[in-house]
Amino acid sequence: MNLLIMGPPGAGKGTQAEELVKKLQIPHISTGDMFRTAISEGTEMGRKAKEYMDKGELVPDSVVVGMVKERLSRPDCDNGFLLDGFPRNVVQAEALDEKLKGMGRLLDGVINIIVPREKIIERLTGRRVCRSCGSSYHMVFKKPRVDEVCDNCGGEIYQRSDDNETAVNNRLYVYEASTQPLINYYAKKNLLKNINGDQEIKKVMDDIMNSLGK
Ligand code: AP5
Ligand code: ZN
Repeated sequence: MNLLIMGPPGAGKGTQAEELVKKLQIPHISTGDMFRTAISEGTEMGRKAKEYMDKGELVPDSVVVGMVKERLSRPDCDNGFLLDGFPRNVVQAEALDEKLKGMGRLLDGVINIIVPREKIIERLTGRRVCRSCGSSYHMVFKKPRVDEVCDNCGGEIYQRSDDNETAVNNRLYVYEASTQPLINYYAKKNLLKNINGDQEIKKVMDDIMNSLGK
């Protein structure tokens, strides 16, 4: 299946994507994770992206679109993919449409996770992430089995530099201004699957699978 997962920062996109790709056997393409990898590898792209990410701004379209197009061309996407965090505005959505058209592919669904604003702040300030594999944890809702150690790979768990109050508020503002219009964009194409993200992690997953007819 060719899928997108969208929703505000902290909605649980990464958490659900991690499980969903295991069930559907498709690659998880998270533009946020790709940038964080580039930052940790100290590449030029990572250095540029960090300036935007730390402020909660979008990285310029020219950088993101090229990176995603290249990623979608790799053979592991032949049987489908789950894009997480892309597209984030109409320019990126149109670029994706064009790329998929060129590949002779169509989107099968757009999972839109809905969570109230007050819950988002609670989730992001309590979030911790594995430095090695990117798995997401929460100090209250999803604790690792051993403190500060990733359940999946044993990696170190840290707090993202954009999970502070100033950056979170800006990320929410950017989401509302640039990304929210995509809900209508995909509703018009009859692709939108609205999911209540304000439930237990497992229940959210069940609702996603049902919405996909799985
Ligand atoms: P990105 O990494 O995509 O961040 P985001 O969209 O802000 O989303 P998050 O990763 O913060 O949240 P999530 O929805 O994945 O939540 P999670 O599952 O971790 O992007 C970061 C930055 O990169 C952007 O600001 C931008 O600068 C740049 N960027 C990326 N893509 C770009 C693009 N296309 N164009 C331009 N710039 C781009 O969950 C959050 C917490 O809640 C966790 O602790 C989790 O354990 C917990 N949780 C999850 N589900 C539940 C639940 N049901 N109940 C209780 N707790 C839960
Ligand atoms: Zn890990």
